[in-house]
Amino acid sequence: MISLNNKHILLGVSGSIAAYKSAELVRQLKNAGASVRVVLTSGGAEFVTPLTFQALSGNPVSSELLDTAAEAAMSHIELARWADVILIAPASANFIARLAQGRADDLLSAICLATNATIAIAPAMNQQMWVNAATRENLQQLRQRDILQFGPGEGDQACGEVGPGRMLEANQLARLTADIFETGSLSGHTVLLTAGPTQESIDPVRYLSNRSSGKMGYAIAQAAIEAGAKVTLISGPTALAAPPRVERINVRSAQQMFDAVMQHVTNSDIFISTAAVADYRPVNIAGQKIKKTEDTLILELQRNPDILARVAALENAPFTVGFAAETESLEQHAREKLESKGVDMIIANLVGEDIAFERDENTLLILAADNKQQLATASKRVLGRQLTDIIAKQKNTPRSI
Ligand SMILES: Cc1cc2nc3c(=O)[nH]c(=O)nc-3n(C[C@H](O)[C@H](O)[C@H](O)COP(=O)(O)O)c2cc1C
Repeated sequence: MISLNNKHILLGVSGSIAAYKSAELVRQLKNAGASVRVVLTSGGAEFVTPLTFQALSGNPVSSELLDTAAEAAMSHIELARWADVILIAPASANFIARLAQGRADDLLSAICLATNATIAIAPAMNQQMWVNAATRENLQQLRQRDILQFGPGEGDQACGEVGPGRMLEANQLARLTADIFETGSLSGHTVLLTAGPTQESIDPVRYLSNRSSGKMGYAIAQAAIEAGAKVTLISGPTALAAPPRVERINVRSAQQMFDAVMQHVTNSDIFISTAAVADYRPVNIAGQKIKKTEDTLILELQRNPDILARVAALENAPFTVGFAAETESLEQHAREKLESKGVDMIIANLVGEDIAFERDENTLLILAADNKQQLATASKRVLGRQLTDIIAKQKNTPRSI
């Protein structure tokens, strides 16, 4: 039984007779837990109607690039960011050529150019088209760009010929798609992660908190599990479900988060602090609801423990990764945090009313002692996987990303 729980699969269907098999593929991807959106090329739409894919996927089907109504619903850039994986099945010889050229004059090609999701193609064509030197050269270019190739198989073809060029079956493609997420880059590692906001009580009904949704941390937890790590997630209050196989410990306040981290950190070799931990808490928590008597009210606050700095300062500190959420001078503040807290890596992002918090996308700057790396805007799920790969590499080769 394969799992694609919470995964976003954009299925591109181009102009091959094998397009009929993609209807079954949509069912299999959905049954494995994925959300599926189908993009048809003009050739693909000649073989299977949008209505079939719309009914099976439960989502509108897109096919036009220069279409105001379609762009208003979900633009090509939004689709490019939405996808965790773009699977093109079938991939016709003509579409493979467009992809190799980096064209952007139809919706599916433009999405492939605008994404940083993993792209996989399942070629399907006549065996003579398959062995043609033009196709071979196009495929070689795609491999150099890390585009995955599923199949093709060999055997009887719709045209009556026998040879290579048959698209793999739906169950084989669904399994290969699920395998993309199981990277193994963190196998053998134990990851301790914090996520979400904290709440600092003022009285029995009120608290101080922040706008963190926990989405970034939960996405990293999911990616770390898929990379083979054992993951403990210490979470502030969020509406999110814990990813399967993740051990979640619920806390409310910064002090509770600190205590839980200290209890679990000795068993972990990687600590990733994504939680937005309150710097201060009220000195006194009123026993009863504070009444509206005065025109002004002064809350006296005291510092909370600095979880990140305390973990980094431990004698046998794990590989320690902190997040810096800043509203200005991102790189400067992030570098100061890297140095002042003595951590191995800082992942910095700009935050504000309409940026980062509560959103599904983010843009990240990664800083280590001797390196920096910018990750372009992408879904937090895609970024989670990129980050786990970078952390795995950095941990194995300290002091370079
Ligand atoms: C009946 C029929 C079957 C076809 N099957 C294939 C095929 O399996 N693979 C392929 O690469 N092209 C096939 N073609 C040719 C493509 O449909 C044609 O190159 C088309 O322009 C591809 O559209 P696309 O670029 O939107 O994929 C077929 C054409 C016809 C008429």
